[in-house]
Amino acid sequence: DLFRPVVVAVDGPAGSGKSSVSRAAARALGFDYQDTGAAYRAFALHAVQEGVDLTSSAAVVATLPTFDYEIGIDPGDHFVKVGGVDVSEEIRTPRVTASVAHVAKIPEVRAFLVELFRSVIAGSSKPGIVTEGRDITTVVAPDAQVRILLTATEEARMARRSAEITGQSAEETARQLSKRDQQDSKVVDFMTAAEGVTTLDSTHLDFDQTVQAVVELVRASAAAA
Ligand code: DC
Repeated sequence: DLFRPVVVAVDGPAGSGKSSVSRAAARALGFDYQDTGAAYRAFALHAVQEGVDLTSSAAVVATLPTFDYEIGIDPGDHFVKVGGVDVSEEIRTPRVTASVAHVAKIPEVRAFLVELFRSVIAGSSKPGIVTEGRDITTVVAPDAQVRILLTATEEARMARRSAEITGQSAEETARQLSKRDQQDSKVVDFMTAAEGVTTLDSTHLDFDQTVQAVVELVRASAAAA
């Protein structure tokens, strides 16, 4: 292709900082930014709004055709809409977070969203796009020019989450995070780097250093190409 955006695929567990790091790296590079977890969350919200029983895969799958999803991929103006309504904040509520595992494990839902993610990547008009999630390096964009697994020790991830979430004990935050890790890892293995994927361990890096490390991996790959 004459013009094909550079694809930067970033996977990692909850609390690794991958959303904020990916977004800041996209901004520094002049790239677009796609948060795929936001789409899983938006679809979970849609299924909840449709009033279906989330434990019934068939009922959840039946709501796919009416899923009206829009995502803003400019890192400076990032939003998620369902049915034309901005749900950027609602998809972060505990209710949605608790529902998303039910929908993310359904193969038809994943297949549908994977196609959506690829069309967003193909539609980028920037020199590149950072796409972040759990299976980007392996399923969504295994041919991405830059593939990164962003990790941090469980201890470091819990400390970051606790600092983000106010009004609940560190123990409760830790319990929720390890429950999510456990549920999420049943669906996709996001803890081990696939072949050709660079592991970036942020345990001993601060936010800016982690962003810088991502930017440098992208520049090194461009220089080698
Ligand atoms: O990154 P996050 O917490 O916003 O992700 C929300 C949920 O979606 C989480 O339970 C894992 C799931 N997910 C997924 O299965 N595959 C992705 N590519 C992204 C997220």
